[in-house]
Amino acid sequence: MKFFADTAEIAEIEDLAATGLLDGVTTNPSLIAKSGRDFMEVTKEICALVEGPVSAEVVALDHATMMKEAEVLRKIADNVCIKVPLTIDGLKTCKALTGDGTMVNVTLCFSANQALLAAKAGATFVSPFVGRHDDNGFDGMDLIRDIRLIYDNYDFDTEILVASVRHVVHVLESARIGADVMTAPPKVIKSLFNHVLTDKGIEGFLKDWAATGQSIL
Ligand code: G3P
Repeated sequence: MKFFADTAEIAEIEDLAATGLLDGVTTNPSLIAKSGRDFMEVTKEICALVEGPVSAEVVALDHATMMKEAEVLRKIADNVCIKVPLTIDGLKTCKALTGDGTMVNVTLCFSANQALLAAKAGATFVSPFVGRHDDNGFDGMDLIRDIRLIYDNYDFDTEILVASVRHVVHVLESARIGADVMTAPPKVIKSLFNHVLTDKGIEGFLKDWAATGQSIL
């Protein structure tokens, strides 16, 4: 499963990129606003930091203006992935852009039927929001299971990009189900490394090593 960082904070992306485990980045208008940075400028910097896809979202609601915005965004770098909302105009834009070889991430997906439409529109990625689904009394991971089943039934190439990931169990379940990608805030990705028994084990080994009086270097 690929790991994308869901952030527009350059320092956080640099930090994760240094682990060699970062496969891409997703941003959205709220994350850009939170960064306080110029959209074009910060997207360009992110694209230079990671080799994989960097999602940059259009804000227009109609197909014609979405296409114009996408034209501007895709000139930023070769690894820009245009993010469009799961609406009729968003999917028209998705079809036109992917037909042209541009990567598209269809976002704000909340049902398996919507994911089916995104795949039929040729989306590169579909982004079901599991955390927001949970917030509203539905099981976000059931949605991922349904999408996996449907995509496998028809051999769709669209990758399931689990979004709105809030904690490590969302990551674990995504991997169990066989999602292609998950995008999470850097804090969640970093917490995947943690285990109390790893820390305790290191502490014990170092104590015993010190007692030997030896050194490797
Ligand atoms: O990738 C979409 C994500 O940014 C939404 O996350 O936590 O705002 O629901 P959240």
